[in-house]
Amino acid sequence: MRLRRCAGLWFEPRESSAFDLDELLAGGSGVVTRVAWLVHAPHLDAAIEVDAGEVAMLGGVSPEEWIDGARLRADLGDSRVRRWLRQGLLVGRRGSKAGLREADDRYRQQHWHGLAAQLHARSRWHGEDAVQGMAQSGTDTAPGLRERHGPPPPVLVDRGDHASPVALPRVDPTAFDRLLDARSSCRNFDRSALLPMAQFARVMWRAFGARAVVPAAADFEVLKKAVPSGGAMHPTEAYVVVQRVEGLEPGFYHYRPVEHALAPMPRGGAMDGLASFARVAVAGQQYFADAQVLVVLAPRFARNFWKYRDHAKAYRVCILDVGHLSQTLFLSATEQGLGAFITAAINEVDIEQAFGLTGYVDGPLAVCGFGLRADRMTTPELDPNHKAWPPSR
Ligand SMILES: Cc1cc2nc3c(=O)[nH]c(=O)nc-3n(C[C@H](O)[C@H](O)[C@H](O)COP(=O)(O)O)c2cc1C
Repeated sequence: MRLRRCAGLWFEPRESSAFDLDELLAGGSGVVTRVAWLVHAPHLDAAIEVDAGEVAMLGGVSPEEWIDGARLRADLGDSRVRRWLRQGLLVGRRGSKAGLREADDRYRQQHWHGLAAQLHARSRWHGEDAVQGMAQSGTDTAPGLRERHGPPPPVLVDRGDHASPVALPRVDPTAFDRLLDARSSCRNFDRSALLPMAQFARVMWRAFGARAVVPAAADFEVLKKAVPSGGAMHPTEAYVVVQRVEGLEPGFYHYRPVEHALAPMPRGGAMDGLASFARVAVAGQQYFADAQVLVVLAPRFARNFWKYRDHAKAYRVCILDVGHLSQTLFLSATEQGLGAFITAAINEVDIEQAFGLTGYVDGPLAVCGFGLRADRMTTPELDPNHKAWPPSR
């Protein structure tokens, strides 16, 4: 069998310290430090530990050329080669572990920049509770943050000739200023009200709808949307969790931007219900999970990376695209008198499992949501000028 190394490896020397009684009794500090070599590969679920000598051995196997397996076994040792094949660090051209080879092939087809792929893969969460974590560390309030971290960098910075700035004329506010003033992250959704279909449809259309399909070349179309997108590639898909919308069955949907329609999706994963999925998706932030509608923003990376191949900026462009979508959703919701939010504190892996996504092929970068505000604010929001509260309904 011919073998090669999987693509996109990164070796991390990770230092950890542990208490050791023997070390203390021997007159030392009692703290033993060790360095573990971890191998990260974006298409694998977790990092794999190797020893220091294996770093050079694995690094020395070509990720491109197929090498005779017998020769590799003779050079590196039979059991090591078997272990690495089992773990997916090596792949065979044929034979068992076809799933791992296919995953490696699929990863190669995406054209990720190697470091961006590592960042994306390793910053995904599975079953995290961000609220609990912050409460435990005492960083869930402004005073707690201040106590733990000291004061933040100042809110303003002086640059240039700041003693004699050129004053700009104040502009007369228009309806657009009033819209911007009323935008506020909503953490108080009405837990029982149904969102009217017209409002739901309007926000979806404005944030995600395609206003034109433009032929760019043979077999190459681009969409015109209300948001900019790097290379006009518009890679981001909107996966919708409908909880309470008039006339819509609660469930999972995929938004189709040209037809302005929702394709119902099967509910994957081991979730017992929509409400518990919503809570897991936003990492325990119940105030967001209460929204009538959640929208998972998940780029199909290869749509962007087709143009920006193996490009150091391409992943950044995908993230920026999601930010534009979010702000457009915010303003569209605000214009309708609705509340909206965005969060990056999400359990990407749980969301991928539920929607049948692959992470390195199409993975969530953020979750947005929108809906009707509650009558009363119980979870704090940043609305110092009272433009969002009380809600207009
Ligand atoms: C990318 C991004 C991620 C955010 N993630 C969270 C979050 O996890 N939880 C949360 O309560 N707010 C989150 N926010 C909302 C911010 O806390 C909020 O924008 C900020 O406090 C300012 O309030 P405003 O949006 O009402 O002006 C996020 C905002 C952005 C832009």
